[in-house]
Amino acid sequence: MSKKILVTGGTGYIGSHTVVELQQKGFEVIVADNLSNSSIDVLDNIAAITGIRPLFEKVDLADQEPALDLFNRHPDIRALVHFAAFKAVGESVADPLKYYRNNVGSLLNILMGMHAHGIRNIVFSSSCTVYGQPEELPVKETAPVQTAASPYGNTKQISEEIITDTSAVTPLQCIILRYFNPIGAHESALIGELPLGVPSNLMPYITQTAIGKREFLNVWGDDYKTPDGTPIRDYIHVVDLAQAHVISIERMLEENNQSRIEIFNLGTGTGYSVFDVIKSFERTSKLKLAYKVMARRPGDVEKVWADTEYANRVLGWKAGRGLDEMTLSAWNWEKKLASW
Ligand code: WQD
Repeated sequence: MSKKILVTGGTGYIGSHTVVELQQKGFEVIVADNLSNSSIDVLDNIAAITGIRPLFEKVDLADQEPALDLFNRHPDIRALVHFAAFKAVGESVADPLKYYRNNVGSLLNILMGMHAHGIRNIVFSSSCTVYGQPEELPVKETAPVQTAASPYGNTKQISEEIITDTSAVTPLQCIILRYFNPIGAHESALIGELPLGVPSNLMPYITQTAIGKREFLNVWGDDYKTPDGTPIRDYIHVVDLAQAHVISIERMLEENNQSRIEIFNLGTGTGYSVFDVIKSFERTSKLKLAYKVMARRPGDVEKVWADTEYANRVLGWKAGRGLDEMTLSAWNWEKKLASW
């Protein structure tokens, strides 16, 4: 039986880390990516870690014909991990159509390709963004999905609905993984987050400030109702996150999933503030970070962290890496990037 797994967006941040973990568990990985937000060099860096350069297909999955053709060339795919999507919250507000075409269009084409070849297993990359500002914390998978604060978040909600509706009337089965805040990098420092242009996320902005690419970090508001006034998030090491994807693939291939659609929160269960992350970074890098407190960023929620009981008990997965390991690995990656 084939162990061929298609990873869309596999040259991206979480995608590349998941490819490494899949290969190290003996899966044959095909990466499909349009390289719009990543570099093909990532494939060589994956090979430097695992000894195996993944098969690669350059394809824009939002274009129906090339997307369906991909499945015709690889009809023996056993399962997919679908990462390919644009994910910049602010950009999605400025250019919604770009996000709906790419994120929702790609999913539709993938589901059609799967159906045409009887491929039924998909792990879908979703986000805690669907919860908005939860009423209750920590947030459980059963918490209500709130009106999305951005077109990006809405594409994740719409995608979850498309998958759920499709699985009700076809053999499709899916494990939906709702990520909290992935940060950090592989211990080899050969793969990591590669934001093109000015990073919108906290961790790459911190490391780019420390390496001298940015003058200082903007701390977007310290007047929230949190212990130190800065917003709280559930930061999770990207390798812990990647390993949850492998467990999810194995769960479906071994038919251990308890229903056709399963949803899991992927967080550590611990919330940290922006100042906590800065302090951790200063501790692990032994540097003083330059930052300035500015006005709040529109759309930011005040505090969100995961209830991980369901993922720990049912998925059999638990994040094991702490905040200091996250910030140190992010810093090692930034230094490696600067040396290339
Ligand atoms: C974290 C905290 C900012 C940058 C988003 C998406 C989510 C996921 C992760 C894709 C917030 C503060 C940030 C900076 C700052 N994306 N911050 N200065 O907004 O929680 O989540 O990225 O999967 O879906 O919504 O992440 O890293 O942008 O912000 O003070 O320069 O850091 O205000 O409190 P966010 P983030």
